Amino acid sequence: MTTNVLDNPLRAGLRIGRTPEPCTMVIFGASGDLTSRKLVPALYNLARERRLPGGFSVVGFARRDWTDETFRELLREAVNANSRSGAVDLDLWASFAQGIQYHRGSFDDADAYTRLAERLAAIDAERGTGGNRVFYLATPPEAYPTIIAQLGAHGLAHSHGWTRIIIEKPFGHDLNSAQMLNTEVLSVFSEDQVYRIDHYLGKETVQNILIFRFANGIFEPIWNRRHIDHVQITVAETIGVEDRGGYYDTSGALRDMIQNHLMQLLCLVAMEPPAVYDADAVRDEKVKVLRAIRPLSVNDTVRGQYGPGSANGRPVRGYREEKGVAPTSQTETYVALKLFIDNWRWAGVPFYLRSGKRLPRRVSEIAIQFKAAPTMIFADTPLNDLEPNVLAMKIQPDEGISLKFSSKVPGQPQIRPVTMDFRYGASFGVTSPEAYERLLLDCMLGDGTLFTRRDEVETSWTLLTPILRAWAEGPPQPFPNYEAGSWGPAAADEFIARDGRFWRRL
Ligand code: BG6
Repeated sequence: MTTNVLDNPLRAGLRIGRTPEPCTMVIFGASGDLTSRKLVPALYNLARERRLPGGFSVVGFARRDWTDETFRELLREAVNANSRSGAVDLDLWASFAQGIQYHRGSFDDADAYTRLAERLAAIDAERGTGGNRVFYLATPPEAYPTIIAQLGAHGLAHSHGWTRIIIEKPFGHDLNSAQMLNTEVLSVFSEDQVYRIDHYLGKETVQNILIFRFANGIFEPIWNRRHIDHVQITVAETIGVEDRGGYYDTSGALRDMIQNHLMQLLCLVAMEPPAVYDADAVRDEKVKVLRAIRPLSVNDTVRGQYGPGSANGRPVRGYREEKGVAPTSQTETYVALKLFIDNWRWAGVPFYLRSGKRLPRRVSEIAIQFKAAPTMIFADTPLNDLEPNVLAMKIQPDEGISLKFSSKVPGQPQIRPVTMDFRYGASFGVTSPEAYERLLLDCMLGDGTLFTRRDEVETSWTLLTPILRAWAEGPPQPFPNYEAGSWGPAAADEFIARDGRFWRRL
């Protein structure tokens, strides 16, 4: 049943109190980083909060020669190191670990899938999981087609219960490869079985964008081109490429961050209210935003790559010196761009997006800058004291929302900007669940609202692929062009200054 978001946004948005049916999650790539840093800690915390169904089981599929016991032990250490709830509760772990098994095999080995099918049937019989399965592709993307084809060939795409598949990013590296991957997946699974992850959608602050916009009466009437001057979406990171240089050097910031995470944030800020809060209604509205974006011009983009500098007070090497990165790499670690959504709500309002690694602060926020007030009656006030209203949605860290407005300085004929602040920590006093907790649970519940649909992924690539092509065909860039620990290339400041605007100081 669908719930009208305007009638009952919290219940609709939070899926209060539902527990999934018993099921088994098969994780391909179980010896990898994602499994130990994110997936298993998320499952453990769901178990802690009694959100997992009885009989819930995990099968880790990988090549290493491990036993069930080794695998469980490694996962326990991983949860100890990575769980938001601190050290593992040993009693809880003991019962959670009973449901964990290790399945050795390589992704192209047919026999491993025959054995997997037998193992899953045995788990159904022993643990009452009723043929319900989630296959999680946590492998390098090159392995996706092989695993998908093998699952299909071994009759594992359907069972007497439900079967779903979660696909990690990157979903393709351009339009063509994303379309090919969609064709491959959809020749074996149907779209409603496919859950494409964008972990930003699992963040509490990101889910709150729709609640903020549509469960309050005062913001929506001014959420349009009559009142908004422009929007800035920033995802800044202090980290470099860590130990992912090999992957990152074939990707870059446009593919790694903009195509998915920032475009998703953009959709949530810009979309129309859906008629109901269900997966297709919400995703229909997001796709409409993407479709209304004017084709991007390469002149409306700026690229950067960090050189040596500092991070958190320590000297750090430049991108080209990172492990796995080519010494003459042309891969961008910073992107700024401007786009327009040519519809009735947004025509003429620029959206500025920027994301980069090795910037001075880790901060993600969406800033809505409203049009300036007419200043006639303050003719004697220095004009730069009159700042426009800005609504800043702070995605992370210091999660919250703040509204900047002008106020009179007591006892003086002066105006100064002040802010009204909402902070999650102060208002709710609880730590937010990790994005993966929400997303894994939603998949088990069969709710695809926070996952990206085929047309969303492809429309986003349709917009960005021409830029990737133009960059690849254009002259080499004078990289590195920003120092690690700075706010990106000078060209990004000049780019926005040409419009008479400036980046927010974060
Ligand atoms: C991932 C990117 O999708 O998101 C990483 O591949 C990036 O490069 C990460 O660091 C950022 O996620 P978060 O949740 O830390 O903002």
